[in-house]
Formats: sequence, C-alpha cells, structure tokens
Amino acid sequence: MEDQDICAYRERRQRKSPEEEEALEKEHFWKIISAFTGYGCTIHEQVNRTERQFKSLPRNQQKLLPHFLPHLDSIRQCIEHNQMILQMIVDDCTHMFENKEYGVNGYRKPTPPSTFEMDKLKSTIKQFVRDWSEDGKSERDACYQPIVDEILKYFPKDKSDVSNINILVPGAGLGRLAWEIAKHGYSCQGNEWSFFMLFSSNFVLNRCSEINAFKIYPWIHQFSNNRRSSDQIRPAYFPDVNPHDLPPNANFSMTAGDFEEIYTDQCSWDCIATCFFIDTAHNVLDYIDTIWKILKPGGIWINLGPLLYHFENMANELSIELSYEDIKNVALQHGFHIEFEKESVSTTYTVNSLSMMKYFYDCVFFVARKPQQ
Ligand SMILES: C[S@@+](CC[C@H](N)C(=O)[O-])C[C@H]1O[C@@H](n2cnc3c(N)ncnc32)[C@H](O)[C@@H]1O
Repeated sequence: MEDQDICAYRERRQRKSPEEEEALEKEHFWKIISAFTGYGCTIHEQVNRTERQFKSLPRNQQKLLPHFLPHLDSIRQCIEHNQMILQMIVDDCTHMFENKEYGVNGYRKPTPPSTFEMDKLKSTIKQFVRDWSEDGKSERDACYQPIVDEILKYFPKDKSDVSNINILVPGAGLGRLAWEIAKHGYSCQGNEWSFFMLFSSNFVLNRCSEINAFKIYPWIHQFSNNRRSSDQIRPAYFPDVNPHDLPPNANFSMTAGDFEEIYTDQCSWDCIATCFFIDTAHNVLDYIDTIWKILKPGGIWINLGPLLYHFENMANELSIELSYEDIKNVALQHGFHIEFEKESVSTTYTVNSLSMMKYFYDCVFFVARKPQQ
C-alpha cells in the first residue's frame, strides 16, 4: 500500500460526520438486504451457464451423462429453497436492532449482488453448518469446546455465581460460541459487525425454536471436488439445539458494530474470548490494546485461531500482518501473563466434510491474564 493510500484510509476512518456515517450505514444495510434477495437470480444464472456449456458438448458425449441435466434441475430446486430461507432471514430485519431503524430502501434500485457480496453470502450459508447443525459438531468441538473448557476452569461454576461473570465474544459470527457460554450460566455478549452474520444470527437466535426445523443447501455452490453428485445437493438441518433453551434469567445478548468502536469502557469484562477473530484487524495491535483496556484487572483473554489476515493484499486497506511471535511479544509488553499456550491446534472452518479438498488450520490457542495491579 502506498503512503497516500494509508492517508486515504486514515481520512476515511476519521473524516466522516455522524450524518455521513449514518447515511453510509443505511446504504450498506440495504445493499446487504439486496444481496440476500438477489441470491437466487445470481446463482440460477451460474447454473444456466453450466447447462449451456454442457449442451455445447457433442451429442454423443452428452448421452454418456444422462443424469447431468436432471442434477442441475435438482440444484435449481435447492437454490429456490435457499432463497426462501434467505428471504425469511431478512423479513422484518429492519426492526431487529433495539436502537436503530433502517426505514425503507430509499437509497437505490436493488442491484445484482457483487461477486464479493455473493461470496460473503455463500460463506454465511456455510456458517449455519459450523454453528447450528449436527454436521458442524466436530468443528465446534475443535474450535469452541477448548475455549469453553478454559472458561469453566478459570471461572468454576461451583465456586461462585457465574451469572456475575461477564464474558465478551467479539466477532461472534452466528453466535454459537457466545450461546454455549451463556448456556453454562455466564453472562455473555456476542459482538458482530457484518450484517450478513447479524441478520442470520438474529434469525436463528430469535426465530428458530424447534430442533432441525429448517434445512439449507450449503454445498450447491461447489462444483469441484465432489465425490458424488448427491454430495453437492445434500442439505444441512438447523438448529441442532433449541436456541431458546438457556438457563432462566440468562444474560445473553448480541451487539452490532465495530468491536473497537463499541467497547470503550475500561475494566468491564472478566473474560474476552476470541475465536478466529484477531486476524480480522487492520491493525491487530489496536485489538490487543482494546482487549487490554476493557478487561478487568485479573481478567483473562482466551484466543483460538489462525492468522489469516483479512486485509492482506486488499487495495486501499491498511493491513499489519504480524507473526504469532510478535503478537505474543506485544501482549507481554502490555503486561499480559501467558497462563496457557498451545501453538498447534488443528481445526477446520466451515468445512465440507465430503469434499475432496479441505483446508485445515493449525491454530494458536492461549489464555492471557491481565494482572490484578
Ligand atoms: C472468521 S469470522 C469468525 C466468526 C466466529 N468467531 C467463528 O469462529 O465462527 C470473523 C468474524 O469477525 C467479524 N468481525 C470482523 N471485524 C470485526 C469488528 N471490527 N468488530 C466486530 N466483528 C468483526 C466478521 O464479520 C466475522 O463474522
């Protein structure tokens, strides 16, 4: 990134008036709604292209594959189903925020979603598997369970009333980790910035109560690495638990917004749990700074995840990519004590378990304490 780009980045962050910020946010809100509602058309177009290409093959080759076109028709039905679920997700979401109304879409004629937005939407659909389906259990066991186990160890349920322990989960995705923590009786708040995630978590957490009442087709967008055609059109059912099944008087909430902007109250959290989050920073030093400030003295930061910096190689975006070694050094210089550390925890992220290609992350996992003094 050129120096002038960095200046542009800083200016973008600093120079907006509250009115400009609000107008931009509303525009963004409606753009994401358009992405949800325009999903079907965009994916149908991709399937139509696949069909056209197949039909351009010589007749004798087409005849060898009598199931190919019926399979595309099955995918089309899955797209329709996904579109219905996505429509349910965005129905009423203009009123989902306690302190904000987004009114009507006076900003733009709905435009077809961009490739970037479609990619986000496809990832969000796969996030349903990770967080709220039986199929995601082994992934959750690898990513969330170690964090929950540390919380249970540092704040044992038999030693105090854990409803007084305040735990924050920044970058909460579809909310399952935060929900699991609340399910154990802790006060837990998930924070999320993306409307894709916020709309979807709102749907699961507030509008789903029957186990496996819904299905979604998360893998239909994947045309490569399928062992069988049927793998591509298999559904995932959700939610695998009743999200309303929390202890009486549970203190569980989700907040919308940028973690760094929202959380400015010093010394207010007993524990901050970050899972696949710290690499979303433009500048991870700012995240560490915020975590240090908002933790109570004696509070702990639990982190599990890789360092796949989200803004790496993005034009006009500041991105400081530090090694784990550097991050740890910075945490130590702040004054954190590393209480526990494991440099190699193998996990997946929204993996398609039947795919012939899978990514594995070799994550770092640590618990760092802000000292009492
Ligand atoms: C890789 S995902 C991980 C989600 C979840 N923790 C999980 O493990 O499934 C990172 C999440 O952090 C969110 N995020 C990124 N920057 C954020 C910020 N500044 N404040 C709040 N959330 C943020 C993204 O929208 C995304 O949902």
